[in-house]
Amino acid sequence: MTSAETSDLTPAQQASLLTGGGFWETARAGDVAPIVLSDGPHGVRRQMQGTDHLGLHHSEPATCFPLAVAVGSSWSVEVAERVGTALARECRSLGVGVLLGPGVNIKRSPLGGRNFEYYSEDPVLTGVLAAAHVRGLQNGGVGASLKHFAANDQETDRMVISSDVDERTLREIYLAPFQHVVKNATPATVMCSYNKVNGVYASESRWLLNDVLRGDWGYEGVVVSDWGAVHDRVAALAAGLDLAMPGPGDRQTQAVLAAVEDGSIGLDQVDAAASRVTALSREYSNEPVEPFDVEQHHAIARELAADCAVLLKNDEGALPLSADSRLLVIGEFAESPRYQGGGSSHVNATQVDVPLEHIRAHASERNCEVRFERGFDTKRDDELQLRATAVAAAAEVDVDVAIVFAGNPDSEESEGYDRTRLELPSDQIALIREVAAAAPRTVVVLSNGGVVTLEGWHDEVDAVLEGFLRGQGGGAALADILFGVVNPSGHLAETIPLRLQDTPSYSTFPGEQGHVRYGEGVMVGYRHYETVDAAVRYPFGHGLSYTAFETRELVTVTTGPDTASVQVTVSNVGERRGKHVVQVYVGTEAGPVRRPVRTLGGFAKIDLDAGQTKVVSIDLDRSAFAYWDIERDGWVVASGVYEIQIGADASTVVARQHIDLRGDDLLPALSLQSSVGEWLSHPVAGPALGPLLSALLQQASDREDGSSAVAAQVAEAPVMPDVVRLMPMIQLVGVSGGAIDPNKLMALATQSVQTR
Ligand code: GLC
Repeated sequence: MTSAETSDLTPAQQASLLTGGGFWETARAGDVAPIVLSDGPHGVRRQMQGTDHLGLHHSEPATCFPLAVAVGSSWSVEVAERVGTALARECRSLGVGVLLGPGVNIKRSPLGGRNFEYYSEDPVLTGVLAAAHVRGLQNGGVGASLKHFAANDQETDRMVISSDVDERTLREIYLAPFQHVVKNATPATVMCSYNKVNGVYASESRWLLNDVLRGDWGYEGVVVSDWGAVHDRVAALAAGLDLAMPGPGDRQTQAVLAAVEDGSIGLDQVDAAASRVTALSREYSNEPVEPFDVEQHHAIARELAADCAVLLKNDEGALPLSADSRLLVIGEFAESPRYQGGGSSHVNATQVDVPLEHIRAHASERNCEVRFERGFDTKRDDELQLRATAVAAAAEVDVDVAIVFAGNPDSEESEGYDRTRLELPSDQIALIREVAAAAPRTVVVLSNGGVVTLEGWHDEVDAVLEGFLRGQGGGAALADILFGVVNPSGHLAETIPLRLQDTPSYSTFPGEQGHVRYGEGVMVGYRHYETVDAAVRYPFGHGLSYTAFETRELVTVTTGPDTASVQVTVSNVGERRGKHVVQVYVGTEAGPVRRPVRTLGGFAKIDLDAGQTKVVSIDLDRSAFAYWDIERDGWVVASGVYEIQIGADASTVVARQHIDLRGDDLLPALSLQSSVGEWLSHPVAGPALGPLLSALLQQASDREDGSSAVAAQVAEAPVMPDVVRLMPMIQLVGVSGGAIDPNKLMALATQSVQTR
């Protein structure tokens, strides 16, 4: 029975919808028009001719907004949503119906080549910000494509490697952001990734695409493949993959029709997938609208970037720069800024703010002198001369502050390959050290997609401003912060470790012989460092301000057996307006599994004038307390004591309060390793099992062979002897001579284990 969407399409037409009609659009079939899909996620990469999925060929000019790494550091739902809203406007004017983003993979290693395209090492921060991005985009009439589903957390061998991850880790860390966005923002499409998950290509994983995405989460949108991620169109369709990209796909269409013909796939599955693709093309339009306002969008990109930079270090108020300062700006990135990463997300930016120009503009208003030295050049190798000249300039008496713009070269960070080192390039490290030894004060401004270690120069400088990759308006935003026009309010969304060896994925990243084993489990990022009390340079959540905030009067009330509401009072006790992030963490030892010492439960970013006080309320839903229980195959909130912590960052708790949660009405989980007594005393399984067990044992004891002696003894005993009661059920199955069917027992166990 065909659905209303495709009722007037022939099977061949339906099948043709299941593969792209071209590189960037779906197929046309009957009255179903193609829909155009284009990259994102932080700018529209619309290609009118010359197509590719690696950012190699031309694309139409568009605004390069702050990248996910920057938006993640903003901790601002408003920033994330506004990026989505502005992107939607640009998509509409460029004739794009679906924008391929946001990316919500987890920064399992700081070496991840595409970490600039992802938000955080934490699934909660990732999910909440990505959902805001999707809302902004889709409220603007453009569909999102939540990617890359799933466990695509590295670039090395990304098209063939198997991410081997235990289910609890998958659910709590790598699937959690996808689940949050699906449940809270209903993305138009979900993009499956290239890699395998536990040995099965994501594009062919029924467990992932059907059981989890549709079965557990109720997703009803389109599952689209990453470009070229489908190896077997029929197997992918059977697993739940609706749309294979790119097209055209005559061969795939024929394969699908042949599979229907030979019965290996049902026409209903073809129809269901075609209906979803049809609904997508009817929901979103490619009809171009009037062009977007280039200057207005550039101003938005600049404004949002200002919320993203993280002031890591600011000794003795080195920043903001004071009037009349004599400044020496050093570094290629001051005049040739790094503002985005390489690969499919690469945007043909309408314009790019040059930090040096904006520094000069601010300086002229403040009677500051500005000189510039290149100091290094990522494309040339006369670094010694460049460095010597810069250091000599820094040593001159008429320099008050040296500002070094450093960071990762473009070639270091891209889709398609991972980084190999955590340090800045050695010539930049040498430059920073020598400048710091020469100048009265030294400020370092960083531009990098993934975190870098600061060791080897951190202690020699007075201030460090981490700008990450913040889009085309980021150069002006950095200057605004350096001169205090903007008060920095970013916070780390990824830990800055001391050494690569300290990172929890160090011994398994990026894998070998076709497998990458997520051996650290749920202990990713700060979940690891804080649990083992490992030293880091700067923890997740860290970020300084030009003002100061005070947190007090933490009040937590339980609002149900598995929910709570947190209220805290925050005051701006400094001299100037600023934004502050309230970070709520949860710690517990409740339940049968090892938990990280704390996990982010919720957060809110607030804006306070000097002297202003606000009461902030943050509701913690069930997900803030739950763990994934592999015996119950579901989320569980264990009853017990939970500690609510307000963190200045993941390592610094400024207020804490205990609450008791009743949690789920759990029934004991049963397995064949459970004792016979546990089975018989189980409130649900026991009554069902008792008579069954007696009958089965009686049958067994009636038999002549000696193998059922125990069974006979059990069957005749007035009371189950302890030796049997304490016996693991698997043992009794073994001696029952086949009378007890373990499969029936496990079916009973599954029925007997329930969570609310
Ligand atoms: C790329 C990327 C994906 C992108 C797609 C289309 O390989 O993995 O993020 O959206 O192909 O360019």
